[in-house]
Amino acid sequence: MTQRFEPKILCFCCQWCSYAAADLAGSMRMQYPTNVHILKVPCTGRVDINHILKAFEVGADGVFLSGCLLGDCHYLEGNYFATTRVKRAKQILQSIGIDPARVEMFYNSSGMGPQFAQCCTEFTERIRQLGPLRKKAPQPQAAAAA
Ligand code: FES
Repeated sequence: MTQRFEPKILCFCCQWCSYAAADLAGSMRMQYPTNVHILKVPCTGRVDINHILKAFEVGADGVFLSGCLLGDCHYLEGNYFATTRVKRAKQILQSIGIDPARVEMFYNSSGMGPQFAQCCTEFTERIRQLGPLRKKAPQPQAAAAA
């Protein structure tokens, strides 16, 4: 029996609209994959490209940012900056041979609990289709058995 690949996904979630959307999804008992680990940030504009790349470096198979709707950022332009950074992160990933689809930007208002759950579900499925970022090294069975 082959085991289904369960990706590790990090979501940088702005503490205002998007975190409220995640909370609402929970309150509504919406199902979304437990693969998604939410890291609350003050605003998606606070997330640097280095934060995204570091997440991959330490084991994430996929990373997404979830911010307020465009025009609704509590710090005015944070999600616009985040959108630009995600585009740049995609370019960097592509330049080093990593599928740029492993990083994404989503926008969810506080009332969009079901949409937040849908983002989590669809992104997890996308990463599942792409497979693990790192291939596991073969285990030296013969040496271990001796
Ligand atoms: Fe939500 Fe800026 S406060 S994206």
